Amino acid sequence: MKRIAVFTSGGDSPGMNACIRAVVRGAVYHEVEVFGIRRGYDGMIRGDIVQMTSHSVSNIIQKGGTILKSARSKEFFTKEGRQSAYEQLQKHEIEGLVAIGGNGTFTGAEIFCTEFGIPTVGAPGTIDNDLFGTDYTIGFDTAVNTALDAIDKIRDTADSHDRIFFIEVMGRDSGYIAIQSGIAGGAELVMVPETFTPIKEVVHTLKQGWSRSKTSSIIVVAEGGEEGGAAQVAEKIKKQVDGEVDIRVTALGHVQRGGAPTAYDRILASRLGLGAVEGLLDGQRNVMAGIVNNRLVYTSFHDTIHKNKPISKEFLRLAKVLSV
Ligand code: F6P
Repeated sequence: MKRIAVFTSGGDSPGMNACIRAVVRGAVYHEVEVFGIRRGYDGMIRGDIVQMTSHSVSNIIQKGGTILKSARSKEFFTKEGRQSAYEQLQKHEIEGLVAIGGNGTFTGAEIFCTEFGIPTVGAPGTIDNDLFGTDYTIGFDTAVNTALDAIDKIRDTADSHDRIFFIEVMGRDSGYIAIQSGIAGGAELVMVPETFTPIKEVVHTLKQGWSRSKTSSIIVVAEGGEEGGAAQVAEKIKKQVDGEVDIRVTALGHVQRGGAPTAYDRILASRLGLGAVEGLLDGQRNVMAGIVNNRLVYTSFHDTIHKNKPISKEFLRLAKVLSV
């Protein structure tokens, strides 16, 4: 393989740049030409493809976002879109791809790889940490620390005013950010999509806290929960508790997707970027590079997409026990 390309796709995550850098420098090290595809699959379809050198990735390891930009492409999910993408890759004589992204990115890669036989290796980049085949995804640690910083700050004001705060964190179908930021931030309760927390349990937890003289509480709510996001949960709670209770809601939103990556994310991204390139050069196809128990492993896109990565029962218990 003499010419490969790298792209980022789906929701961006802090550390994607460190991963791009590792892919580019890994390719240069192995004397393989490397191209960057801008704006994910949309850029592939349009031929927005630029040659990269070691110098193109200087001074980006510390930056959030992605220098290659990202998109959620609808067109790539049509046969015509993928045909155009294939023609562009042929035109640029690209023989292999490194895809940095999440579930949607790898779903597209699996279809494309099967249809057109372009060898592809993925690197998991999403703040959600919801991919089977890696203990952590690039950007998750930074997002947890961003959420934690906000929780700490909100706790100060919650305590001053004796208030209950419902803090919504990201994670469409995944409670990883919620559970880890909740434990680290000492939340009274954490609501995650993986386990159903009925409203009556939230009320019970709050009342127990009051009976132990707690005057303020933090409830961390993952956006994709069954009872709704933080605003919906707070509305339901208001109806069930005494009107005297002062409730506020904060949705952290996209602030969790930006910012300088933590050291952990930079190192993870560097390992996975190099792992993806070297996997591709060693003949890996249709797989995602991941780190499991501190070792580099490759998992088929099929398993990555379809297998469930359960949230740690120990973490769920930890959050509950320590909130008494
Ligand atoms: O998948 C990452 C993620 O940040 C989710 O946590 C969130 O639900 C979603 O992306 C938001 O997507 P968008 O940026 O397209 O609104």
